[in-house]
Amino acid sequence: MCGIVGYVGYREAHPIIIESLKRLEYRGYDSCGIAALGDKLVALKDVGRVVDFEKNSPRLHGKMGIGHTRWATHGAVTAANAHPHLDCNGKFAVVHNGIIENFQKLREVLEKEGHHFNSDTDTEVIAHLIEKYYQGDLVEAVSKALADITGTYAVVVTAEGHNELIAGRRESPLVLGVGDKENFIASDVAAILDYTDRAIYLEDGDTCIVTEDTIEISNNNQKINRETHVIPWSVEDAQKAGYEHFMLKEIHEQPKTIENTLRGHTTSERPVTLFGIEKEQRLEDVTLIACGTSYHAGLIGEYMLGKLCKVPTRVKIASEFDPSCMALDRTLIIGITQSGETTDTLRAIKHAKTLGCPTIGITNVQGSSVTRIADQILYTQSGPEIGVAATKTFLAQLTALYLLALSSAPLDVKNYESYMTKLKTLPQKVQRVLDDEQTIAKHGQQLAKYENAFFVGRGISYPVAMEGALKLKEISYIHAEAYAAGEIKHGPFALLRSNTPVIAIAPKDHTYDAILTSIKEIKARGPEVIALAQEDDDEIEQFVDVVIRIPEIDPLFSPFLNTVALQLLAYYAAKERGCEIDLPVNLAKSVTVP
Ligand code: F6R
Repeated sequence: MCGIVGYVGYREAHPIIIESLKRLEYRGYDSCGIAALGDKLVALKDVGRVVDFEKNSPRLHGKMGIGHTRWATHGAVTAANAHPHLDCNGKFAVVHNGIIENFQKLREVLEKEGHHFNSDTDTEVIAHLIEKYYQGDLVEAVSKALADITGTYAVVVTAEGHNELIAGRRESPLVLGVGDKENFIASDVAAILDYTDRAIYLEDGDTCIVTEDTIEISNNNQKINRETHVIPWSVEDAQKAGYEHFMLKEIHEQPKTIENTLRGHTTSERPVTLFGIEKEQRLEDVTLIACGTSYHAGLIGEYMLGKLCKVPTRVKIASEFDPSCMALDRTLIIGITQSGETTDTLRAIKHAKTLGCPTIGITNVQGSSVTRIADQILYTQSGPEIGVAATKTFLAQLTALYLLALSSAPLDVKNYESYMTKLKTLPQKVQRVLDDEQTIAKHGQQLAKYENAFFVGRGISYPVAMEGALKLKEISYIHAEAYAAGEIKHGPFALLRSNTPVIAIAPKDHTYDAILTSIKEIKARGPEVIALAQEDDDEIEQFVDVVIRIPEIDPLFSPFLNTVALQLLAYYAAKERGCEIDLPVNLAKSVTVP
């Protein structure tokens, strides 16, 4: 996490860096800072959000500078620990995203050599290492400093007396924005959309020297050319477009997201094949790897692959992936990560690769790290997701996983086309859920008064319940737990009270009678029950307190619709509680630390 930016060009750096940092705040927002090089190098930093920093700090002058927005890892949230970090004499300023594993040892050595530290961060060692190695050649000093480091980094360095920025990356994202008489460096393209639509994605081990009209990249001491890409997102994609929060805008973008992800995949030709790989290699099973919301998409994908392809499939939380108990070279690994940068997921994919597994990555971000690791990439087409809570990227991941399952399933043309038609009608059906926003909002506002909630579902709706609980807890801070409906009586029943609402997902599938039984058992213990049920369900009303109606749909596709209703429920509960919806406490969108 943490967002970093750099600017060098013909304009004043300060406002550009501030605006870019605002766009990167979803990566971390506990403190921020900026350094600009005018007549001399000046750095300012503080705890709190970028808007407050902008209001409360003087404007720095200079046409080159760096900035940082932080999500604390090493060291508490204090102004001293905010970036940029400087060397003893304030000649070199560094912003960093990543973790320096050997920083303690390096710090001890540097302190013995007389360096004075001002913070508890791992990053500060970089500034002092550069100071130690500097003998007039900034590139050499930065290269030597980075060579001493074990761990991960994306760094940008500015130094007094130099008209170039030096940047480097190892396992943390970094992109260069190519302008006219100006160049940009950023953790991701969202930061630079206002200024350019041309980007160069740096690779691990790259270092680069950036001036206002040149970019020079090296890897392993060899100069190297990296392709310039056109960024597929527009400035408007990264703006609120009149919505109060990015999350609400992104919830509303979901019909378009599904449509865009399906585009190009809706003929009977089956362009995306899961077992295309099988030609070279006999595959026995599939392992999906992901974290958080992407993990929930994986659980639904597991259900679909099992159901349609009859292929043994498991899902692993990336940080729990232990390849020692799998016949790995026969296992297809599918890593799901919207950002393409989640360290736990990337490490698991890399590990599986070294053991010989074929790998597919599902991601929303062009040029992200997963695109360089996985053998094949399936892009979701959500546009940038800025709200920290994942919404539209989840539905896009489901769309991609359904496409994979359908294109690999042993279905005759008629059945295949019938499923594809159902996929194609999803945008309209999702829109119908969105049209019911005001009703769902009312129930969300009611939910806001509780401190605890349970979500229950069965079969394909159990991961939907998990996603609903995650959304509610992360943005409204209501403690929410998800259970397989049949499991809640095996212990959690002890927690049911009249002030513990239960949200039950009840599509008309083969689990319907069983979930009705669970609902009756729950209701008998006092909680308010809110059910998500199909429009044509005239039975459920008598057993629950509230019914949120969902358009009729083949139950296999119900996760799309039920999830949207749960997103709105969470959003309006959080709004009623006055929560900072787009930037929940303690979270960051892209978790680039293990
Ligand atoms: C929850 C959320 C997180 C992410 C998780 C994985 O709303 O956004 O749980 O889903 O951090 O992120 P990606 O998909 O980028 O790997």
